Parts: sequence; C-alpha cells; structure tokens
Amino acid sequence: MKTVLITGANKGIGFETAKQLLENGYFVFIGSRNIDNGESAVKQFKKAGFVNTMAVELDVTDAVSVEKARSKIGTKTDVLDVLINNAGINGGMPQSALGAPVEAFHNVMDTNLYGVIRVTQTFMGLLEKSKEPRIVNVSSSGCSLTLHSDPNWIYYSHKAAVYTASKAAMNMYTINLAYELRDTPFKVNAVCPGFVATDFNDYRGTGTVEEGGKRIAKYAMIAQDGPTGKFFSEEYNQETGETPW
Ligand SMILES: NC(=O)c1ccc[n+]([C@@H]2O[C@H](COP(=O)([O-])OP(=O)(O)OC[C@H]3O[C@@H](n4cnc5c(N)ncnc54)[C@H](OP(=O)(O)O)[C@@H]3O)[C@@H](O)[C@H]2O)c1
Repeated sequence: MKTVLITGANKGIGFETAKQLLENGYFVFIGSRNIDNGESAVKQFKKAGFVNTMAVELDVTDAVSVEKARSKIGTKTDVLDVLINNAGINGGMPQSALGAPVEAFHNVMDTNLYGVIRVTQTFMGLLEKSKEPRIVNVSSSGCSLTLHSDPNWIYYSHKAAVYTASKAAMNMYTINLAYELRDTPFKVNAVCPGFVATDFNDYRGTGTVEEGGKRIAKYAMIAQDGPTGKFFSEEYNQETGETPW
C-alpha cells in the first residue's frame, strides 16, 4: 500500500485530497498543526469506512514539530511514496507592495516557503526509499510571475504582494528541487487546485474542494512517464494544465 503525507490535511483542499487518495487505496498521514483537528478528520474518514489513515501533529513553521512528525511516521512505515505540501496561509488581505510590513512577508514565507523546505528536507530520507516518489507543492496560478506581469491577463489587477511572493518563491524552490532530482524516479510538480471555496478565501472561491482535491491527487498519482518540474493549473489551461511560472 502506498503512503502519503499531506500537510494541513485537517480541512479544506488537504482534507479532500486525503479522501480521494484514501479512495484510491493509499495510506494517508493527516498532517495537522492541531492534533485534535487531525484526529477529528481521521474519525470522519474512519466513519466513512476508510481505515488506512492516521493523524500526525505537524506545524510546518516549527522544525521540532516537523522532526517529531517524521519520527512518528517512521514508527508506522519505512517508506513514504508521496509528500503533498499543502499547508498554506494567505496572510490577510489586502496586501500592498509598499504598505505590507516586512513581518507580514516573514510570517507568510515561514509557512508557504520555509515550511515547504523544512518538510521536504526532513522527509526526503523516507521518500527516497519509494520506488516512485512524488512531491506535489500546492501552488496557485494567481502567483505566476509571467501572468502577473501581463497587463492583458484577466486577473492582472488582482495583486496580493505577500501571498503571491511566497508562492512564486515556492515555485522556484520546486524548479530547483525537480532539477536536483532529475536523474531519479522522483516527480516533483507545483499544482494549482483552482479558485476553491474554503476558509482560505472566506468561501468566495468559485470551485469545489472536490475539483481542487482531484487536481492535486492527480499529480500525487502520476505514472513514471509523467511530468516533473512543471507548473499545472487546469483552470488556466484546460487542455494540458501546463501553466507559465
Ligand atoms: N482555496 C483556494 O482557492 C486556493 C487557490 C490556490 C491555492 N490554494 C492553496 O491550497 C492550499 C490549501 O488551501 P485551502 O484553500 O484548503 O485553505 P484552508 O481551508 O485554510 O486550509 C489550510 C490548511 O493549512 C493548514 N496550515 C496553515 N498553517 C499551517 C502550519 N503552520 N502548519 C501546518 N498546517 C498549517 C491549516 O491548518 P489549521 O486548520 O490549523 O489552520 C489548514 O489545514 C494552500 O497552500 C493554499 O495556498 C488555495
């Protein structure tokens, strides 16, 4: 049975992605910074008949917490097949390039960029033991450098200096990671779930968690001849999903 760790899986897109991977026969570690919320998610899954799941306390901003999560998962498995770096915050809106305090950038980067790096580096040893390891970094087409510098792009004026900088930086980390792992079986991609109604946007998203979860789960399950080092947003590109960085 393949194993997957999803950060921030206690609710929203992470929770739904967990459900879809459980339906596809994966053992899912539910990362949650509040263990009670993680346990409550697991209870819901078990009630629905999905028993192959376990909650793991994991705050991506806290190196000790990430290390403890690694130890806990290590008691259950020697191999992690998939890591989904899903935990994310937007830092509150609006966000101005001139007005947002450096502290706001620091806080959002700590979750959306450093958190991804922390978790990825800590779990690399377990991932390397998989025959077909996958890393999905949950990103947003709304954080594309190319699109945001195109005055003709439909969302050109929808700026959010802090959040977009954090995900653009995470995208560049994804490119570097995929490059370093290019001669291995790893597939490393950045994937946008679409504009999905969750707590993240006070339920203003126009898509459902089912749609968002499906887009993320797809790249967690890609075959060995699948892409790596790419950025996908099915909302932006309905044909191939491939999106400019
Ligand atoms: N919704 C959208 O339209 C949209 C679009 C593009 C990309 N995304 C991305 O999709 C991902 C999931 O978003 P969502 O819409 O599902 O948001 P959400 O419902 O607010 O869920 C976010 C999850 O991240 C967790 N989290 C936040 N900070 C954390 C930390 N320091 N350590 C561990 N977990 C942490 C939250 O935990 P708590 O419950 O403890 O707060 C929660 O489980 C994010 O990376 C977001 O940037 C969302």
